[in-house]
Amino acid sequence: MRILGVETSCDETSAAIIENNSVLSSIISSQDIHAQFGGVVPELASRAHVRLIIPVVEKALNTANLKADTLDGLAVTYGPGLVGALLVGVQFVKGLAAALNKPFIGVNHIEGHIYGNLLSQKDYRFPIIFLIVSGGHTQIVLMEDHLKYKILGKTRDDAVGEAFDKGAKMLGLPYPGGPEIDKLAQLGDPEYYNFPRAWLKDNPLDFSYSGLKTALLTFLKDKNKNEIQLNLNNICAAYQAAAIDVLVQKTITAVEKYKSERIAIAGGVAANSLLRRRLKTECDKKGYEFYLPEFKYCTDNAAMIARAGYEYLSREIHSDQSLNAYPSLKLESV
Ligand code: KG4
Ligand code: ZN
Repeated sequence: MRILGVETSCDETSAAIIENNSVLSSIISSQDIHAQFGGVVPELASRAHVRLIIPVVEKALNTANLKADTLDGLAVTYGPGLVGALLVGVQFVKGLAAALNKPFIGVNHIEGHIYGNLLSQKDYRFPIIFLIVSGGHTQIVLMEDHLKYKILGKTRDDAVGEAFDKGAKMLGLPYPGGPEIDKLAQLGDPEYYNFPRAWLKDNPLDFSYSGLKTALLTFLKDKNKNEIQLNLNNICAAYQAAAIDVLVQKTITAVEKYKSERIAIAGGVAANSLLRRRLKTECDKKGYEFYLPEFKYCTDNAAMIARAGYEYLSREIHSDQSLNAYPSLKLESV
């Protein structure tokens, strides 16, 4: 099956073509316009998607050396995300599917991230404990089979990617802050300062990242610019260590509780070098299988949406023209 995937849920306009499990093309146009504002401006994102969607889809088709009428189906992110941004992709794919008279499917963005990981694996088995970590989401999910999920825990406030981005902003680093903190942290001492970890006794698999952010704000208040600059690497290392420690320990707790000795990570923060290293060490020590996504399938991309779409379209599960954008869509099983 040959599928066109389209992703426009935030600030990446992306289109990809996959044939079963192989990626024929994957085009991502990142909207640089948001950097000057230190975060994504929703209205600017929608306008940029409108401008970019046709050239990006054309480039995906040209790179794969294909004509649109040779597609077997289309897949598009319909939530969660920014409503205006989502609408561009949804309306575009509905129109193209009608014009081509091909089936299409609306895909959950979080499910897309999960399939971004599986797209990177030659071989995998279920059940898998999935840690999904991005700018908008922090969840631990038990994936029992294709399209079958049980949510074990999620953040009660901020997502871990948001903690990275907002922390970086407080430190005067460019947006998105996650990769910047990751880079500087490699040169710093994680024990320079002890930032708080939220363990949450009532559901040990839930997360909370608002306290970490506030702790950084408080820490920075009585420091002058020079002092911060001199210790920037150490502050990044200590802040990152606090954020990642919680992710690692809770993922291991989930494995022990649900007796699924397989761990996978997905989403933008799955690119974090400390998270990858720490989970790999834990898995090697305990003999668990560890499914790591390729870097290019961690952050938002349309190949992951096409891959998730394949699971639906190959089971003849389709959407119809009533499909709408759904900004607060939750991950659910079929
Ligand atoms: O999955 P994604 O592209 O978009 C959402 O669905 O939110 O994730 C983007 C997030 C941003 O918060 C970004 O700072 C974070 O992923 N990120 C990282 C790293 N690379 C991207 N966070 C920590 N370390 C990284 N290396
Ligand atoms: Zn994402």
